[in-house]
Amino acid sequence: MARIKFIAGNWKMNTTKAVAVELAKGVAKGAPDGVQAGVAVPFVYIDAVGQAIAGSKVLLGAQDAYFEKPGAFTGEISVDMLKDLGVKFCLTGHSERRHVIGESPELISKKAHAIYGAGLILVHCIGEKLEQRDGNKTLEVCKAQLHELSSKMDDPDRLVVAYEPVWAIGTGRTATDAQAQEVHAFIRAELGRMFSTDYAARVRIQYGGSMKPDNAKGLMSQPDVDGGLIGGAALKADQFLAIVNAGK
Ligand code: PGA
Repeated sequence: MARIKFIAGNWKMNTTKAVAVELAKGVAKGAPDGVQAGVAVPFVYIDAVGQAIAGSKVLLGAQDAYFEKPGAFTGEISVDMLKDLGVKFCLTGHSERRHVIGESPELISKKAHAIYGAGLILVHCIGEKLEQRDGNKTLEVCKAQLHELSSKMDDPDRLVVAYEPVWAIGTGRTATDAQAQEVHAFIRAELGRMFSTDYAARVRIQYGGSMKPDNAKGLMSQPDVDGGLIGGAALKADQFLAIVNAGK
């Protein structure tokens, strides 16, 4: 079954409002048919970016959300607030939230269920650290992080898994096409065991970690690589659009 490739820019804690709006307009103007492009924007610029891409094919996204309903949670942002601004997808489990901010698997799982439960597309990020890869723990780590999801997430079109080896994020060191495909195939097989093979066949599995215009085509030609989650190269519209076009 054909899966439409989904390429999302993860802007992380970058841009100013003016830069964000300019970047978003550039992406919206150049976004091609036949592939889904999205931008995961810092909270404070979501509203402005949403207006800048209104009416375009680009999906508006957030990088995080808190799992509780609105209430006394100083500093947090709820899924309802994101929906109110037109957000369509939201990340969870990004390695920077796991390993820099220190989010636990339990918290990530709660956030994942809140995002999915609100009707948004969930982009659940998983991936091993370098010492885990060197210790042959890659599949074990990915499996544990996949099990932060559950069969409550019954619509495969609203679940996206992003495989992002931590050693490849922001380092310029990309997984080879074969390394990515090996883990993506494992992820799909594990989703098949958790849900069903029909379900797993519909889930998009993105690759992330130093994906650039020059390696995007090779990675996305792999049978189980259904797009990308792009950090550094998503901060320039022309570079990001080159990657998006490589997914056509
Ligand atoms: P990178 O980041 O493309 O800069 O490696 C990817 C990510 O963290 O999502």
